Amino acid sequence: MILFQNVNKDYNGRPALSNLNLHIGKGEFAFLVGPSGAGKSTMMRLLYREELPNSGQIFMGGVNLNKLPTYQVPRLRRRLGIIFQDYKLLPKQTVFNNVAYVLRALGVDEKNVEKRVISALSVVNIESKKNAYPTELSGGEQQRVGIARAIVNGPPVLLADEPTGNLDPATSLEIVQLLAEISQRGTTVLIATHDEPIVNALRKRVIALHAGQIVADVDSGVYELKGNS
Ligand SMILES: Nc1ncnc2c1ncn2[C@@H]1O[C@H](COP(=O)(O)OP(=O)(O)O)[C@@H](O)[C@H]1O
Ligand SMILES: [Mg+2]
Repeated sequence: MILFQNVNKDYNGRPALSNLNLHIGKGEFAFLVGPSGAGKSTMMRLLYREELPNSGQIFMGGVNLNKLPTYQVPRLRRRLGIIFQDYKLLPKQTVFNNVAYVLRALGVDEKNVEKRVISALSVVNIESKKNAYPTELSGGEQQRVGIARAIVNGPPVLLADEPTGNLDPATSLEIVQLLAEISQRGTTVLIATHDEPIVNALRKRVIALHAGQIVADVDSGVYELKGNS
């Protein structure tokens, strides 16, 4: 589903990713870990075609992102659910409207908007707050709305960049457990994080990045990978 082949990415001549090779299969759940500056967010931005690599190939669901014309980037992003550290909800819109936004933009009729939004809100167990505004919600609730928005269009891939960065430990665990449940229904999930406890609690695939290179890739791993591979 996700494939990096010999990918290099520089910023002003300084390498952020060096000769990166990685495959993540359909329906897999993986953590991308590593210290600040390791290149995690760069990998995410390459995957949603915010940026292009300097060399190498990146495939998303069989599509070569280097060859994707700019006018098809919105179509790529509709097939991706993206979850952010700071939620990026529309502050003046209700929970319902935040999740409905993308469907309405696609011209989905209002009856189906209603059905799909309620279904997405129920997956993250926040239906009861559908008429609330983001400022009336806790951080964990806001992130659950962020997840509902990401899954409402049924994307095959979910990308989350530090989704628990603003949450307390217990809420962080709830959020990643929710993402793991969603993955179990067949969605490929990649979470970039340096939140050690959540990684250690889930025992999923852990891909460790350091200075732009993959230094470990372990199934059922923990954050501290040394001596564990
Ligand atoms: N837009 C940018 N311009 C210049 N350098 C950048 C930019 N984005 C990231 N970098 C650099 O690339 C490296 C990887 O950054 P990043 O992907 O944000 O790492 P992480 O998400 O793991 O903290 C860092 O050295 C960072 O300073
Ligand atoms: Mg980052």
